[in-house]
Amino acid sequence: MKNKYIDLVEQTFDFPQDEFRVEEGNLFFNDIDMMDIIEKYGTPLKITYLPKISSQIQRAKRMFKVAMAKADYRGDFHYCYCTKSSQFAFVLHEALKNDIHLETSSAYDLDLILALAKDGSVKKEDAIVVCNGFKRPRYIQNIAAMRNDGWEHIVPVLDNKNEFEDLAELITEDTDLGIRIASEEEPNFDFYTSRLGIRYSDIMHFYKNNIAKRPNFHMKMLHFFINTGIRDTSYYWNELSKCVNLYCDLKAVCPELDSLNIGGGLPIKTSLAQDFDYEYMVEEIINQIKIICNSHGVEEPHIYTEFGSFTVGEAGATIFKILDIKQQNDRERWYMIDNSFMTSMPDTWGLNQRFILLPINKWNDEYQRVFLGGLTCDSQDFYNAEFHANAIFLPTIRNRRESLYIGFFHTGAYQEAISGFGGIKHCLQPSPKHILINRDEDGKLITSVFSEEQSSESMLKILGYYK
Ligand SMILES: Cc1ncc(COP(=O)(O)O)c(C=O)c1O
Repeated sequence: MKNKYIDLVEQTFDFPQDEFRVEEGNLFFNDIDMMDIIEKYGTPLKITYLPKISSQIQRAKRMFKVAMAKADYRGDFHYCYCTKSSQFAFVLHEALKNDIHLETSSAYDLDLILALAKDGSVKKEDAIVVCNGFKRPRYIQNIAAMRNDGWEHIVPVLDNKNEFEDLAELITEDTDLGIRIASEEEPNFDFYTSRLGIRYSDIMHFYKNNIAKRPNFHMKMLHFFINTGIRDTSYYWNELSKCVNLYCDLKAVCPELDSLNIGGGLPIKTSLAQDFDYEYMVEEIINQIKIICNSHGVEEPHIYTEFGSFTVGEAGATIFKILDIKQQNDRERWYMIDNSFMTSMPDTWGLNQRFILLPINKWNDEYQRVFLGGLTCDSQDFYNAEFHANAIFLPTIRNRRESLYIGFFHTGAYQEAISGFGGIKHCLQPSPKHILINRDEDGKLITSVFSEEQSSESMLKILGYYK
């Protein structure tokens, strides 16, 4: 009878796959015996497999090069890494081996780039730094300081109109500029138009009445990113086409415009059942842009991307041990992990995000349906479904002495920042100043500062930039 866990996987998916195979009941990930790592380091464990970062960047570059050659596309391709997906020094150092550029989302991100310049990983003469995000004064000041200090290829992308005034007050050098288009959200989303960027109907007017009047600013880039990422859906193609049409209209009044930034969103596998046809998507994007531009008699733009998850997601894995089993009623059997979903894989809780879940050992044992429970007190700290099935099956264990280890794979993007690894934050937004308020015996208020706003030095230290 075919009732082992390995039979279940072989009957459900094409298996083995490039990254995953099984030998003597144990899982190998990128040809690494995961049990060896567990025996050496114990659990719970986060893993980053660094070579995957470079191979993903090279893969994307290759795909765009081939697509552009096939379409006889005349623009260049620029791969930017979006730092927010993982800001660790070890990630940036690996990514920067591949002749890439960078995209930032907050003030401290620019401090991070200065740290990379200091250690020689980034050269200010060559590096294109695309500055996205809503800009607080400190972010504006950092952009201006870098531009005035010779970072010629720093490109602030306006998220709102006021930012332009703020930048113009501080920057006297010739500076390239971008505008982010506020895209329409998917029809089933909570609101119609993204809060990020400037609305379509305002862009032309804003360019003519503001940017065009400041000769040291050169409107070079139109930026477009949609929440759902790059998908073969009519929604995506429709948004892309609107954006390229706007590019062509704007180009007619702004000949300096020469770049289209299509953001991030290249998907990664969250289940062994998925198999993305990346080549088709990339070729179709390039074709669409070319066709629309040609129909307007406009030269094709240089293409920028900001792939975060695609760059670093598949390099990551999160490993747990099953500590014990709890049978809470006839049908609900819990495997308790030795950590927490909420704190180590927060997207599973906040976004119902699924990842590839596989046992590390016991592939030759029978399997059973289980619920996975985390160790926090929160009833939401659980994981009970996969991308392809509304249930979880894992090798059967009957008591806690049977050591079962499980891995969540492709967890390398966003999880550390959102869960606050060591005190970092999503998009490096600092912890606010914290004050304490009390009253003395007469009822008079007494206030004191418990902690100042978090500094960039403290974050960069956590991320591995300073000792
Ligand atoms: C402006 C921008 N660029 C790039 C990205 C990266 O997206 P992904 O990690 O899906 O590639 C994001 C994600 O939020 C974004 O907002």
